[in-house]
Amino acid sequence: MDLPEKVILFTGVTSGIGLVLVERIACQFEKTHQLHFCVTCRNMNKGKSLEKMLAINHESVQVTLIKVDIGDVKSILEGCNKIRKRFSKMDCMYLNAGIMPVKSFNWKNILKSCLLDLNAVEMFRTGYGMFNTTQLVNDDGINEVFATNVLGHYVLVQEMIPLLEANAQKKLSQIIWTTSANATKDAYNPNDLTCKLGPNAYSNSKYVMEATSIELNERYNSKGIYSQIADPGTAITSLTLGILPMWIWYIFLPILWMVRLLLPNLTLTPYNACQSLLWLLQQCPEDLDPGSRYCSQTSLLKGNYTVQKKIDITPGEANSIYNKVSVIAEELLSKYT
Ligand SMILES: NC(=O)c1ccc[n+]([C@@H]2O[C@H](COP(=O)([O-])OP(=O)(O)OC[C@H]3O[C@@H](n4cnc5c(N)ncnc54)[C@H](OP(=O)(O)O)[C@@H]3O)[C@@H](O)[C@H]2O)c1
Repeated sequence: MDLPEKVILFTGVTSGIGLVLVERIACQFEKTHQLHFCVTCRNMNKGKSLEKMLAINHESVQVTLIKVDIGDVKSILEGCNKIRKRFSKMDCMYLNAGIMPVKSFNWKNILKSCLLDLNAVEMFRTGYGMFNTTQLVNDDGINEVFATNVLGHYVLVQEMIPLLEANAQKKLSQIIWTTSANATKDAYNPNDLTCKLGPNAYSNSKYVMEATSIELNERYNSKGIYSQIADPGTAITSLTLGILPMWIWYIFLPILWMVRLLLPNLTLTPYNACQSLLWLLQQCPEDLDPGSRYCSQTSLLKGNYTVQKKIDITPGEANSIYNKVSVIAEELLSKYT
């Protein structure tokens, strides 16, 4: 009997949370669906290792590798041309690629929060205000963190809308963005959308990403396309190696396990962290709230589970941010097309 086909596009699955997510989706759906994974990656060697791993453990899963540097609009457009030639529809897109180049700890703010502020627990839960990010710009003059975490994904989605719409003629299509508890309105300056000036480029990028998802959902729901937001919690991956080297994370691991009794968003492993990302794919998109984050949590009693948290963004704010992102995207698209 022919199984129903499920075509899923991924960014950021060559390491960390994404790498485990792909494996978990394969385990979950390979018996009920003919899975086709469209894996976009900037490093084709890493992509080929992933393809090999899937071929060994999940031989029914078909994989197409497409070279895309999500921080580079030209590379995205070239990749999308190849994707459109290969696929006629897309069930789901996982927008998981992300960078957080940490320059230094913000000791002043950490000490201030610990000594004067009752909000220290919140700071440790979200990481907001603990680090300064490096202010690098890409060849288009855009802050690299913004270009990778938001702009590239926005352009990719716009290019894939026809494939998502084609799928939505039969069943609903899903877009799943990976955000962070670090996302906060406090990091956002309406006069500096890409955060060229501020020290919180990562928090800003994830906040703008959430606003973009909310407005995207609003605009495309009537066409059967649903956009949702997943928060993986905090897990030790290459991303967190910018904060502390791996050996220090492992020395602190017993303490982190204890802290997790109070802060269940301390998921710690990529397996635990991708819980909410997988969970979203198992839900009917119509039942989900586009204005909430779906957060991975881990506890001794409950194991891995997903909780819903409302995002502090009004529809007007989401609309305004989305329009600003689209203006930058349009400028770059007219440069490269
Ligand atoms: N780890 C955490 O605690 C945590 C917490 C909250 C949110 N997140 C989010 O979770 C997502 C996955 O992060 P992770 O922790 O798994 O980190 P990771 O191990 O560093 O994985 C990041 C992934 O993004 C890809 N990537 C980065 N820049 C790219 C670019 N320009 N073009 C194409 N791919 C690019 C990386 O590709 P390469 O293999 O080529 O580098 C890698 O596959 C990110 O969006 C991150 O912001 C993580």
